[in-house]
Amino acid sequence: MDSKDAGATSGNPSASVNTPPPADQLIAESGTLLQRLAGSVSEILTSPLNLSLLAVTFYLIYKIIQDRRRANAPRPVRPPPLPKLPKKDYTLEELKVFNGLGPEGRILMAVNGKVFDVTRGKSFYGPGGPYGIFAGRDASRGLGTFALDDSAVRDTYDDLSDLTLDQMNTVKDWEQQFQDKYHLVGRLLRPGEEPTDYALEEEEEASQKSAADSLENKTK
Ligand code: HEM
Repeated sequence: MDSKDAGATSGNPSASVNTPPPADQLIAESGTLLQRLAGSVSEILTSPLNLSLLAVTFYLIYKIIQDRRRANAPRPVRPPPLPKLPKKDYTLEELKVFNGLGPEGRILMAVNGKVFDVTRGKSFYGPGGPYGIFAGRDASRGLGTFALDDSAVRDTYDDLSDLTLDQMNTVKDWEQQFQDKYHLVGRLLRPGEEPTDYALEEEEEASQKSAADSLENKTK
């Protein structure tokens, strides 16, 4: 006879394996469990190291959730770039129209007498951008003097004659940078100055190009 049978036949209920524990014993056990849990929580919350680990964990979870949301969000459709402007010279007044607030959002900016289409630098020069003060304006003075306040631009034509040699060299450096990055669309006109007739210039360029192309085709 095995021990199980012995318990069952002896008439002692506590010896039976299948008998559930009494309710008060269950309450006491869950109370102890709760106490242990509270102890662990208070241990975590009172240790600076644990607290910082907890904070890092929460932060990482937050970042993972945020990244997933971002990955699932529809990507903004970038509008196609605006067509290239035909070459033309601008008065200060004509330039002002291209401040990024027009229907096309085109932004022009003058540097040292040259007008550049800086629309693709909208994050710099567009409304609310860090250099938005230059949109549709002559930016030479601001760039030469590293100013972004009201002293950076003038409402009337600015001949820059009071700038120092160093400041003028800075303006020229900027002009080179703009030349490398943006389309040159024309010149800024002094008051009373006649605009260049670029149609003639462009016709000449086109005929030179077609002559060069036909010469290249003949030599092939
Ligand atoms: C705390 C001062 C400044 C900081 C931290 C700063 C920062 C920057 C940075 C990081 C760029 C590079 C953008 C890129 O090519 O990705 C940039 C470009 C530029 N910054 Fe500043 N800048 C400051 C002051 C100025 C000032 C005072 C001016 C003008 C007066 C200025 C005019 C420009 C211009 C024109 C660009 C070129 C944007 C283009 O490529 O079209 N910045 N700046």
